[in-house]
Parts: sequence; C-alpha cells; structure tokens
Amino acid sequence: MGSAQAADTAKGKEIVNANCAGCHGVGVMGAPKIGDNADWSKRVAQGFGALVDNAVNGKGNMPAKGGNPALSAGDIENAVAFLLEDAKVKLSDKQNTKPTVAKAAEAKPKKEAAAAPNAEANAQPTAAANAAGAAKKKPVNTFNRLMKSRAEWNPPPFEDGIHDPENEDVYALQQPKEAFASMPSNAFGNHVDWVKALENGDINPRFDRMDPNKKPFVMDLNIVREVKGSMPNVVYPHKQHTEWLDCSNCHPAIFIPKKGANQISMASILMGEKCGVCHGKVAFPVSECRRCHSQKK
Ligand code: HEC
Ligand code: HEC
Ligand code: HEC
Ligand code: HEC
Repeated sequence: MGSAQAADTAKGKEIVNANCAGCHGVGVMGAPKIGDNADWSKRVAQGFGALVDNAVNGKGNMPAKGGNPALSAGDIENAVAFLLEDAKVKLSDKQNTKPTVAKAAEAKPKKEAAAAPNAEANAQPTAAANAAGAAKKKPVNTFNRLMKSRAEWNPPPFEDGIHDPENEDVYALQQPKEAFASMPSNAFGNHVDWVKALENGDINPRFDRMDPNKKPFVMDLNIVREVKGSMPNVVYPHKQHTEWLDCSNCHPAIFIPKKGANQISMASILMGEKCGVCHGKVAFPVSECRRCHSQKK
C-alpha cells in the first residue's frame, strides 16, 4: 500500500458504491464526478497522497471519510485509487505520492498485508485476481435472501438488481441504508417493520398516485381463523392491510368477502396463493409464524 498502483481498486469500487457515489455520482456541491477524467485530472495535480489525505480529513463540503467514520485510511486509499482508475487518470511518478495518514497507524487486522507477499502480483491486480477476491468474500448462502450478511442488506440502488445501473439518476437516489436507519427494524426482507413505521408516522405514503389528498378507507375488522392442533389461531387484521391496500386488491379476486368462505391452508400460502400472493413477496414471509398465528387458544 502507500501508492495508487498498490491499492486494491476492486475493494475501492465497493467502498465508493456504498459510501461515496451518493455525492460523487452526480457531483453534489461540486464533488468531482465519478468517471469524469477532466474533474479528476485537475484534482490529482496535488498528488495521490494529498487526495487521500483530504478525503480522510475532509475538505470544503467533502466530509471526513465521506461521512463514514467506520472506514479506515486504507479503505479511503483504495477508494481514491479506484476513482482515478475509473476516470482513466494516468499518474506521473511525481503525482504518485504517499498519503501521510499512514494505513499502519489505524487499528486494522494485519491479515491484509500478510495476504500480499508478492509485491509484483500486488502491483498490477489482474481482472482474474480481482474476480477471485470478490468471489472469496461471498458468503455461502447468497441465494437465500434471508441469510445475507448485514453488510449486504439494502444495497445501493445501482446494485440492487431492480434499478437500471446505466441510468445515472440512480446515483441521485437516497441510499436505502441511510433512509432506513431510523426506522423500526425487522429480521427479514429489507429489515424495516413497515407496519410500525406507518403507525409511528416515520413514513407518510400517498394512498393515490395522482391525488396527494386521498386517504385510505381503513376498516378495523379482525377475522379469526381457528387452526386445528397446537398452532395458535390466525388473526387476519383488516386495519393494517387497508392502511396500505385497497379493498379491490383482495376482494373478490383473492378472497370472497365473507368470513369462512375461503379455503386457506399453509400449503396454498406456500404455493403463492391466498395470503401468499403478498406474504413472502412484498410483505413479511411465512417464516414469521407468530405474526399471523397470534391468538393463543
Ligand atoms: C456529502 C457528499 C460527499 C461524500 C459522501 C463524499 N464526498 Fe468526496 N467530495 C465532496 C465534495 C463536495 C468535494 C469537493 C471538495 C472541495 O474541493 O472543496 C469532494 C472531493 C473529494 C476528493 C478530492 C479532494 C481534493 O483534494 O481535491 C476526493 C479524493 C474525494 N472527495 C473522495 C471521496 C471518497 C473516497 C468518498 C467516499 C468514502 C467521498 N469522497 C464521499 C463530497 C462528498
Ligand atoms: C389483504 C387482503 C384484504 C383486503 C385489502 C381487504 N380484505 Fe376484506 N377480507 C379479507 C380476508 C382474508 C377475509 C376473510 C375471508 C374468510 O374468512 O374466508 C375478509 C373478509 C371480509 C368481509 C367479511 C366479514 C365477515 O364477517 O363475514 C368483508 C365485509 C370485507 N372483508 C370487506 C372488506 C373491505 C370493505 C375492504 C376495504 C376497506 C377489505 N375487505 C379489504 C382480506 C382482505
Ligand atoms: C401470512 C400469514 C401466515 C404465516 C406467516 C403462517 N401462517 Fe400458518 N396459516 C395461516 C392461515 C391463514 C392458515 C389457515 C387457517 C384456517 O384453517 O383457516 C394457516 C394454517 C396453518 C396450520 C393448519 C394446517 C394447514 O396447513 O393449514 C398450521 C399447522 C400452520 N398454519 C403452521 C404455520 C407455521 C409453523 C408457520 C411458520 C413457519 C406459519 N403457519 C406461518 C397463515 C399464516
Ligand atoms: C394483497 C397483499 C396481501 C395479502 C393477500 C395479505 N397480506 Fe398481510 N400484509 C400485507 C402487507 C403489505 C402488510 C404490511 C407490510 C408487512 O408487514 O410486511 C401485511 C401485514 C400483515 C400482518 C401484520 C400486521 C402487524 O400488525 O404487523 C398480518 C398479521 C398479516 N398481514 C396477515 C395476513 C393474512 C393472515 C393473510 C391471508 C388471510 C394476509 N395477510 C394476506 C399484504 C397482504
């Protein structure tokens, strides 16, 4: 470490996406834009080391470490090296200076240094080496969205597989991690308890896309479905559903509006029918038995 060439730009990319792109994507408050060769060429005149130091300590409207104190100086070094590489900025020998905020000064596991015994291999990371590094970090059960590690919850919009990463407006969107930080939490999905969030007034969603003043017609009617055996009974609450949904979202396509008129079983829910039309897809999943089976016998 200690120079632009020795930095791990694959790691840098992850750090930038998670911490820096919110401002550097569109150039908030004059931040040099990601991928903008002219912007970054100007900045690098002072040397790589000075850029890293300024990013670590903050400069003008640039908060120290991009506002995330959990990042180490080494993380920032990797991030800045990525920003320069990504903008195709070539460093002269004179510009390739060392940051004064020494990486070693930070309390960080020494494993990284030990894992790079070959200076030559480290100097020019190949695409294959980067890919191997990325693959190594993937936890085993990535296919199971309930088992993602905390760091992988709520990825930024350009990485979530939903938004189009080619559209530069995704960089202007608020980061979900930031938006969700103050909301009541849950153990699944995007880890927000949306029912509580609505109850607390943390969110104030429009009921109608076109009409900002339209209010939902909330019906406070619980339907208790008795369950044979030892499982507690199911309480289906109209209140919490009609705060979000229109009657026509369920009646009559999914449920006939008459108590006991519908055959509902766990099998059908698991197959994506009845309550399973939403639960496990856009509402809490079947694993949360007690949220539905909430009435003791
Ligand atoms: C809140 C917005 C914001 C965030 C988040 C942010 N930056 Fe910046 N950054 C700025 C602004 C604004 C500037 C321009 C500062 C100036 O020149 O006065 C800047 C400038 C920089 C510079 C150039 C410094 C110089 O000496 O010219 C670097 C390098 C940099 N940022 C790196 C990062 C990295 C790495 C991250 C993520 C860890 C990050 N920034 C996150 C707003 C941000
Ligand atoms: C999320 C789905 C959902 C939504 C939205 C919903 N309902 Fe229902 N509704 C149900 C279920 C489930 C039952 C129980 C059916 C059963 O027991 O077989 C039910 C039962 C009913 C019943 C029968 C009550 C009884 O005692 O027989 C009425 C009336 C009714 N709903 C009206 C409404 C109205 C009016 C709205 C909108 C304000 C609405 N529902 C919204 C799912 C929904
Ligand atoms: C989204 C709400 C919901 C969740 C979550 C849920 N259930 Fe159910 N469960 C129901 C409904 C509705 C019925 C049908 C009750 C009836 O007979 O009318 C049911 C029925 C059952 C029955 C009776 C037999 C059958 O298959 O219909 C058992 C046993 C059961 N659930 C176990 C569980 C267990 C264990 C979990 C957690 C792994 C769970 N349920 C999670 C809604 C839910
Ligand atoms: C049309 C979609 C839809 C259907 C069908 C549906 N739900 Fe829901 N349900 C939601 C949404 C959305 C929420 C709120 C978000 C969340 O909690 O994930 C919710 C929340 C709930 C809650 C939580 C209330 C609280 O206080 O936390 C319960 C319990 C529940 N549903 C049970 C059921 C049962 C039982 C059925 C089937 C009889 C059912 N739901 C069918 C969409 C649906």
